Amino acid sequence: MGAGYFAEPFRIKMVEPIRVLSDEERLARIEEAGFNVFNLRAEDVYIDLLTDSGTGAMSSRQWAGIMMGDESYSGARSYYNLLDSCSEIFGYRYFQPVHQGRAAEKVVMPILLGKGKVSIANMHFDTTRAHVEIAGARAIDCVVPEAEDTASEAPFKGNMDIEGLRLLVEEHGCEKVGVVIMTITNNSAGGQPVSMENIRETSKICKEYGIPFMIDAARFAENAFFIKEREPKYKDVTIEEIVMECFSYADLFTMSAKKDAIVNIGGLIGVREDAGLFEKVKAATIPLEGFISYGGLAGRDLEAMAIGLKEGIDLEYLRYRIGQSRYLGERLKESGIPFQSPAGGHAIFVDAGKLLPHIPYNEFPAQALAIELYKEAGIRACDIGSFMMGRDPDTREQLKSQFEFTRLAIPRRVYTQSHLDVVADALAEIKKRAENLRGYRITWEPEVLRHFTARLEPIK
Ligand SMILES: Cc1ncc(COP(=O)(O)O)c(C=O)c1O
Repeated sequence: MGAGYFAEPFRIKMVEPIRVLSDEERLARIEEAGFNVFNLRAEDVYIDLLTDSGTGAMSSRQWAGIMMGDESYSGARSYYNLLDSCSEIFGYRYFQPVHQGRAAEKVVMPILLGKGKVSIANMHFDTTRAHVEIAGARAIDCVVPEAEDTASEAPFKGNMDIEGLRLLVEEHGCEKVGVVIMTITNNSAGGQPVSMENIRETSKICKEYGIPFMIDAARFAENAFFIKEREPKYKDVTIEEIVMECFSYADLFTMSAKKDAIVNIGGLIGVREDAGLFEKVKAATIPLEGFISYGGLAGRDLEAMAIGLKEGIDLEYLRYRIGQSRYLGERLKESGIPFQSPAGGHAIFVDAGKLLPHIPYNEFPAQALAIELYKEAGIRACDIGSFMMGRDPDTREQLKSQFEFTRLAIPRRVYTQSHLDVVADALAEIKKRAENLRGYRITWEPEVLRHFTARLEPIK
């Protein structure tokens, strides 16, 4: 088992062919895509590590559930199955399905925020930040300082900086802070976990100042696994119990179910006990997402989510899952590729700032590395750095991201260890010619979430 890798707790029943294009074809495809990996056709990609979101392989039980989906407009059996799964896992009173994580944000943010308000998070994911800003508010990140040192092996680098949070609340005034968000795991800091102690402490501050405390729960199960493994008090506590305790500290959550609930589409809003808040959630969901018992999803999607939520918290599955990113991390260490250590839950975040120190932030080193990976071996990764960060909404200045990460996100139950070896070997090859890599400039971009569609060109 080596450094804690666990073989797949499943066998493969159906395969989907993938292929590598020739060197010349890959060069042509990335140029046609405006040097933006989001513009590539998926069939031109060999190993797709663009995201772990909605890209997982569903189980035979989930596919069986798909066939059992109840497609009634209102009151479908699949909706009630989902509510049962949710109450059992999270212990909340109210749940609202939506079509994905950002839909949950679209519903919730205008309820909690408005002009002049701020949202404070350990780190906002990009869509979360976008919805805070669309609601007229400002998003402030407050992660612990050790997150910035990618070489540090600190166990909970996703944590909220508790003292920093208190200072920010005092500085802005608690009435201005519309919400405090804990993103678990902390995607933007490198899929790094948040400890139970930190969730508890954050919750205490929120209670003291009367601020709603919300969990961005996309990777709640992976976070629970890290708590079990790294927080000594929780060594003998089950994943189910850890999840229940973790959510008990918050007032509400938003969730992209496309991650730990292992579905291809879906999202959730959970409200612990505030009936008034849930009324507002329902009222906003109907015009934005559809009737409350389907929330922008088909009945079959609700059914798959009800099953996937339970599969996602299975200990054997989580051991294998976290073992995969750990394995890739170990292989990268062998060739001296710097990354956010220890390996994150859903991805390895290569420190492109360190690997390509000659490319400044405004020439997007993490994007340059993502492009090179495609050129090298048809691997698709993405920039989680200044290219993704975008511009200051007021001044339109390019923002400098705290990190310049190229993210290798690992889809759930999809790729084998051999695929991960191809990725590690490709990066080792790129490292040999790292000083020859050049930065990029943007030739076209939209105003919001530009990294999805912007076009670039290499700087000569
Ligand atoms: C932490 C976090 N929050 C929210 C979202 C948004 O979810 P979705 O892509 O389902 O809209 C994501 C998606 O990647 C995420 O990682």
